[in-house]
Amino acid sequence: MLKSYIKFILNFILRNNIQDSELKKVCKLIEKSKLKQTEKQKVTFFQQQFKFDNRIISITDFGAGSRVFNSDERKIHLIAKYAGMSKKKSEILLKLIAFYKIEKILEFGTSLGIGTSMMKIGNPVAKITTMEGCPETSKIAKEYFEKNALNNIEILVGEFENSFKKIENQKFDLIYFDGNHQKEPTLNYFKRCLDFKTEKSIFIFDDIHWSKEMLEAWEIIKNHSEVIATIDTFDMGIVFFNSKMKKEHTLSYKF
Ligand SMILES: C[S@@+](CC[C@H](N)C(=O)[O-])C[C@H]1O[C@@H](n2cnc3c(N)ncnc32)[C@H](O)[C@@H]1O
Repeated sequence: MLKSYIKFILNFILRNNIQDSELKKVCKLIEKSKLKQTEKQKVTFFQQQFKFDNRIISITDFGAGSRVFNSDERKIHLIAKYAGMSKKKSEILLKLIAFYKIEKILEFGTSLGIGTSMMKIGNPVAKITTMEGCPETSKIAKEYFEKNALNNIEILVGEFENSFKKIENQKFDLIYFDGNHQKEPTLNYFKRCLDFKTEKSIFIFDDIHWSKEMLEAWEIIKNHSEVIATIDTFDMGIVFFNSKMKKEHTLSYKF
């Protein structure tokens, strides 16, 4: 991971001029724009509220496993700390959703709902469908959504494979892939989600530098015939399908 980070930073410093005007705008948004004070407060509040939740839940793990936990019995505040979304990722997600006024979102992997909440801050009227396999975790997420009066969020509990059946024929403005961080499942979900996109849809893949496998998946996604442009932010990979954009792959990073 450290090697991958150093390589990324070097490539970012040596980045060529960005040709496409839309990509240029998004990179500027990621690197330069700041959150509004009210958004900042909400982000901090949502991230912090798990801090004192010492309840223990029993996790059903469907993903790539954990590099931190070695038991299925986990404290909620520790799940939030290690599996929840970082402030940096939250900011990118929130800014993108606000910038594009994204209205219909699909999320793979709700966990405690930190990412879902961040997307809601970006656009409070967005309709979010979020999928989670672990019943205990999704129960806690639901509890926090209700506690914070976050509406218009549908949690589909169960294996992603089964949840696909419930979203057939829908279109989403943004799909956030933060479920199974392994190559084959990532590519499988990507291909199946191509049916859910319009030209203006944006796909975001979490943790593309998490492992060699995830980097390989990212390279395949970048080179897919329907993909027009991408941004690698190190933490996440952002994919555009808009044929009005120039075919281009770039990097963006906020120090
Ligand atoms: C990294 S966490 C999601 C974090 C969350 N998006 C956030 O921002 O806080 C990944 C979640 O995806 C769920 N998951 C992984 N693979 C799954 C699968 N195949 N079916 C259902 N849920 C799955 C896991 O149970 C886990 O809670």
